[in-house]
Amino acid sequence: MPPASASTLALTPLFPLALAQVQLRPDPWDTAVLMQEVLALRGAATGNPEPGCAWTGDINGVWQLHRLEPFQWLRRQVERQAWAYLEQLGFCQGSVALHIQRSWPVVSEAGQVVGRHHHPNAHLSAVYYLNGDGSGRSGCLRLFPRHQVNELVPGLAVGHGGPLELGQNEEEQRWNAPWWDVAPRAGLLVLFPASTDHAVTANDDDDELRLSVAFDLALSAPPAGPQDPAPAEYLAPHPSQWSGVEAP
Ligand SMILES: [Fe+2]
Repeated sequence: MPPASASTLALTPLFPLALAQVQLRPDPWDTAVLMQEVLALRGAATGNPEPGCAWTGDINGVWQLHRLEPFQWLRRQVERQAWAYLEQLGFCQGSVALHIQRSWPVVSEAGQVVGRHHHPNAHLSAVYYLNGDGSGRSGCLRLFPRHQVNELVPGLAVGHGGPLELGQNEEEQRWNAPWWDVAPRAGLLVLFPASTDHAVTANDDDDELRLSVAFDLALSAPPAGPQDPAPAEYLAPHPSQWSGVEAP
């Protein structure tokens, strides 16, 4: 935060979105195995029912990769980095339990996209890239702000003939970027709040499929014994303490 000074107007970046990125260094053999697995799980499919949409395992019956043996090293990495993310956000150790709800592969062929959406079922989302060279050619993860709070006049950031100068570097983008693109790179793991609207831009690489694995995670209270304090007000109690309700 820039220091307040009598002569210089200082802007303070309030309420930033926590996008986490970490470059993992997997064994190339493990990566090759996962790529093969993902393609085998996709089978003969080439996309989702919507025209031009990439194939996403979550709506095609492939949503529990975290339970498959070849994905265990990746699951452990996601768990480790998710805890680190929560710690950096200020969660007290032992205050929450973390659950992987589902995990699924996404395969983009040339020209395919994933439309703008978010994951209302979850609290924290993660994406791991099996390939990509960092150029964004195979399609970027595009994150959208919930509100354009600094736009002053709604629509200026994306409207035709807009008066806002939106350059390519982070400093120029900081206050009014209409979105933020993350270019896939093999081994990159990204985490962000599941409520964040996001999309995947078109795969412009005619020669390479874009391969990623997505995870949805949910927070709950830790399991509470009779002597423990009650779960925090806005945390669901631990799922092991829920009771099913039989359908009539
Ligand atoms: Fe998504």
